[in-house]
Amino acid sequence: MSASRIKSNEVPSSARSARSGKAIRTVLLSATLLSPAFPAGAEEAKPPLRLCADPTNLPFSSDEPGKPGLYLEIGQAVAEKLGRTVSYNWYKSYFGKRTVRETLLSKQCDAMVGLPLIEDFMGPAVIFSKPIAHEGYALVGAKDRKLAGIDDLRGLRVAVQYQSTPQNLLAMRDDIQKVTVLSPEEGMTALEQGKVDIAFIWAPVAGWLNKTSYGDKYQIVSTEGDGLLWATAIGFAKPSGALRDEVDGVLPSLQPEISALFAKYGVPNGAPVKFGQMVPATTSSVGASEPVTVGQATAAEKPVQTAAAAGDVNAGREVFNGTCAHCHGPDAVQAERKIDLRLLKKRYADDMESTFWKTVHDGRPAKGMPAWKDVFSDDELGNVYAYLQSVQDTGGSN
Ligand code: HEC
Repeated sequence: MSASRIKSNEVPSSARSARSGKAIRTVLLSATLLSPAFPAGAEEAKPPLRLCADPTNLPFSSDEPGKPGLYLEIGQAVAEKLGRTVSYNWYKSYFGKRTVRETLLSKQCDAMVGLPLIEDFMGPAVIFSKPIAHEGYALVGAKDRKLAGIDDLRGLRVAVQYQSTPQNLLAMRDDIQKVTVLSPEEGMTALEQGKVDIAFIWAPVAGWLNKTSYGDKYQIVSTEGDGLLWATAIGFAKPSGALRDEVDGVLPSLQPEISALFAKYGVPNGAPVKFGQMVPATTSSVGASEPVTVGQATAAEKPVQTAAAAGDVNAGREVFNGTCAHCHGPDAVQAERKIDLRLLKKRYADDMESTFWKTVHDGRPAKGMPAWKDVFSDDELGNVYAYLQSVQDTGGSN
């Protein structure tokens, strides 16, 4: 159902090349235009923040009550911090350039959450907030499968989306059998039906389906490389510089909430495996996370130990790198001692487990550690605990 929209979202590699000739279906559903609050008495109330969004594009946005989608919830959180309410301009097409031109740049809304933060997207007409996330492609497969790099796909059947970066990337590999699918939904179905061993597909939808339709059965490994991973941000029309600066001012304090929203929708936003053309580390945007390579002598060899270990350790690592790594570092490698979770055992000894549960359940909100009990089940958090146990620093000094 959403194939065309998803394709138009593959902006970095494709919007300017293969797809430029193809018309993206765009239907203006309803322009909920609010007249720009003429000062007719009420001086205090700020006008709503108007967001342009697609009503049928979960996990990102939707007009279904109770399921607004990741980007709309981020938009709501931002508006709330600014003391504003939100209104929507529904536009039934995803973030193709034409959509942006007909909505944001036609003053139909004040902001669009989740635009690709790349120089030539639509600058200088569009300006951006600080990065809020990373989006791209992921490898999806059984949890016990080792997925650390392209060579792990050797001899396997791999679903790739038509005209996508993964398809181009694997085109040269004779030792990997490609199965073309038209959408990430189809890729997940092929995986579920055993028609492929791995799906190399659009990560947000894969994560969302894994969470909502497949009971979290699969591991989802984000990949990194040219056209495989890019930062996203909130986009504004150029004259909205003041609003942009205001939003940038509140974004840092919203990071825990934003991380929790990613987890809620199952959308990966974590430390990727290096893949493809080995673009130098652009790690997860937020927080004090270290580049993936720091402290891990050779990235290519690192997962060998964990691959053989119990399944829940792997599942825990996945949750950890998807959510906790923003602040605690990929694979829990973190130079700042206070949030170095490899030191839990040393720090708490026999109280490690109880401290873990109390902290992850309730968080330490005043100190920037979110509460996770409404985000993950105890099973999932138990997996994270098992993973953290497997990486405790047992060295001698202090
Ligand atoms: C937005 C940043 C952020 C994210 C995301 C985050 N944490 Fe934390 N976490 C913190 C901070 C900051 C502290 C230290 C709080 C303090 O100073 O007491 C902390 C502390 C902890 C502690 C206690 C450490 C200690 O030595 O006392 C544990 C355990 C922990 N986090 C686990 C997790 C897990 C598991 C996740 C993912 C589900 C996670 N955190 C995600 C920011 C974060």
